[in-house]
Amino acid sequence: MASSHTLFLLLFMLLLNSLHLSLQKKPLSLSFPLTSAPLSKPHPSAAKLLSSAAESPPLAYTYKSPFRYSMALIISLPIGTPAQSQQMVVDTGSQLSWIQCRRRKAPPSFDPSLSSSFSVLPCSHPICKPRIPDFTLPTTCDQNRLCHYSYFYADGTLAEGNLVREKITLSRSRSTPPLILGCAADSAPDAEGILGMNRGRLSFVSQAKVPTFSYCVPVRRSRTTANPTGMFYLGQNPNSRTFRYINMLTFPEGQRMPNLDPLAYTVPMSGISIGRQRLNISASVFLPDSGGSGQTMIDSGTQYTFLVDAAYQRVREHVARAVGPRLKKDYVYQGALDMCFDGDAIEIGRLIGDMAFQFDKAVEINISRDRILDHVGGGIHCVAIGRSEALGVASNIIGNFHQRNLWVEFDLVHRRVGFGVADCSNAV
Ligand SMILES: *[C@@H]1O[C@H](CO)[C@@H](O)[C@H](O)[C@H]1NC(C)=O
Ligand SMILES: *[C@@H]1O[C@H](CO)[C@@H](O)[C@H](O)[C@H]1NC(C)=O
Repeated sequence: MASSHTLFLLLFMLLLNSLHLSLQKKPLSLSFPLTSAPLSKPHPSAAKLLSSAAESPPLAYTYKSPFRYSMALIISLPIGTPAQSQQMVVDTGSQLSWIQCRRRKAPPSFDPSLSSSFSVLPCSHPICKPRIPDFTLPTTCDQNRLCHYSYFYADGTLAEGNLVREKITLSRSRSTPPLILGCAADSAPDAEGILGMNRGRLSFVSQAKVPTFSYCVPVRRSRTTANPTGMFYLGQNPNSRTFRYINMLTFPEGQRMPNLDPLAYTVPMSGISIGRQRLNISASVFLPDSGGSGQTMIDSGTQYTFLVDAAYQRVREHVARAVGPRLKKDYVYQGALDMCFDGDAIEIGRLIGDMAFQFDKAVEINISRDRILDHVGGGIHCVAIGRSEALGVASNIIGNFHQRNLWVEFDLVHRRVGFGVADCSNAV
């Protein structure tokens, strides 16, 4: 479920940066790869079709690429034969990958007619024939007997296109098998594509049998510098000796919990500390309850971190106590962030103190006081944590803002997530 919002948020922020975000509105019918547990289970024949690929051993990858960081991780991938470079947002919170296929000059969109490895998915393909009601990739058969998907984002923007197969070329001698992708015909004008990286069968990592991947999100040195560059790996990361790992929480396929996203990278968070003080939050607040609410996911596709109320209120109380009347009253940034300040960010950071997200096995994500606040414009800085309820989600989401200067590795073979401190502007 988070992923639908993730995707929405992401696109919306990327595209309609200046517009006011109305986060309360839910997507009208955003579903399938982009949504919650019961909805994202492929129907049997599709599952069977993909399972042979998913269950065969992972392939050895050694792919490394820089990416641009501007609220999202934006990577350029060579797609098709011969390869055409496409910008895609790396999203660990969603499943379906898609590219822009509409002819567009700037930035140039993918032109299927120039690729010899491109093919369309006919309506007869099992993926396109949902037979059980909760398999909700909203596909239809178009007038050309091709598999068409469509869904709305919360702002009413329609994302639609055809499902296709295409290869991603990782080196001169190496490309993925043909992957099922969305070929967007008419989504918002400047949308980059999405590289869906969650644990679902249709995600890029599952289809391409990637055993592990990792990224390092840079911190922008100053407001005036250009968007910084981070590093992305498919396959073994040479820095992994220094990583500390926590096991992912996984969920049996048959388990149906309405608010759970079983395909997300769910981690056992146990607490939050600020200024060396552990906040009085029960660890159960960070774990899924019987309805699936409360899971904590690592999401590259959401910028800020979102916490369920039981955790958020403790953070807010602490911040309000630390900074007193400097907290801006009745100010909410983009419907999401409401711990905001005028004035000197360094001083306010000092008042709040260092922050840490704590996990099993004493693993922590440390956020030093100088990286707690985000400048949202007009001299206003906000703590980069919002209420999940404001997003309409029941999960805790650790966004990319709180994954900066950190290697984050998603090890699908060992079902674990690794963290390693790094200077991501210089990471290799
Ligand atoms: C922590 O929270 C629990 C329940 O919210 C409360 O009963 C308890 O008194 C709190 N402990 C402290 C030290 O504030
Ligand atoms: C976070 O900070 C604590 C306390 O300073 C330290 O023990 C720990 O190693 C740090 N973790 C990371 C990932 O930097």
